[in-house]
Amino acid sequence: MSLNLADIRKDYSQKELSPDDCLADPAAQLEAWLNEAIAAQVNEPTAMNVASVDENGRPSARIVLLKGVEQGQLLFYTNYLSRKGRQLDARPYVAATFFWPELERQIRVEGQVRHVPEEVSDAYFASRPYTSRLGAWASEQSSEIGSKAVLVTRAAMFGARHPLNVPRPPHWGGYAITPERVEFWQGRPSRLHDRVLYTRDELGNWKTCRLAP
Ligand SMILES: Cc1cc2nc3c(=O)[nH]c(=O)nc-3n(C[C@H](O)[C@H](O)[C@H](O)COP(=O)(O)O)c2cc1C
Repeated sequence: MSLNLADIRKDYSQKELSPDDCLADPAAQLEAWLNEAIAAQVNEPTAMNVASVDENGRPSARIVLLKGVEQGQLLFYTNYLSRKGRQLDARPYVAATFFWPELERQIRVEGQVRHVPEEVSDAYFASRPYTSRLGAWASEQSSEIGSKAVLVTRAAMFGARHPLNVPRPPHWGGYAITPERVEFWQGRPSRLHDRVLYTRDELGNWKTCRLAP
């Protein structure tokens, strides 16, 4: 049986968006929409798809969780030796996308990334559940493993080594995205969607414009 994907379509009509509705700072606008997403009990409101590129300019993308918006920057945490970590350290630029179907909204963020200060990673790591902290040691993220048992054995080994306090692995920590281009998308009927783009003007101040859908 073949799937008839071409017939799957949805019209969007919930809300509107114009540059006049938007806050001056895109990070503040993102927080406002995040609050609405959380209030609307959107599934995984903090999940964002983060794309990186390899040395040949080939992109790869994966979901990570947004863990903070601090001084206009978006923070997420991962393994610095993972595929994404190595790519980001060599080419520190990302495109990140949120999609909240329940609100017919998308946010796109593009910008530069850097490691967050060690103490910021320490504080976030310490707030994670014990088993998640062990997992950060056990998982050599993105490397091939022969079986699930390898992972379980490593988790047990690190559990024996750190029965109470699990220190942050040096290869695990946060990235901060400094946005350079941010777009808010609101679905509208007849594919005439609303798009508001933030970029910086020549003085470095944020400006907005409307984009064709
Ligand atoms: C809902 C969801 C949340 C995730 N959150 C994170 C996260 O915060 N950090 C992370 O490193 N991986 C997270 N992952 C796993 C990544 O998508 C990915 O599999 C992993 O980071 C390895 O990616 P890489 O091999 O490209 O480095 C999450 C996956 C899902 C589906």
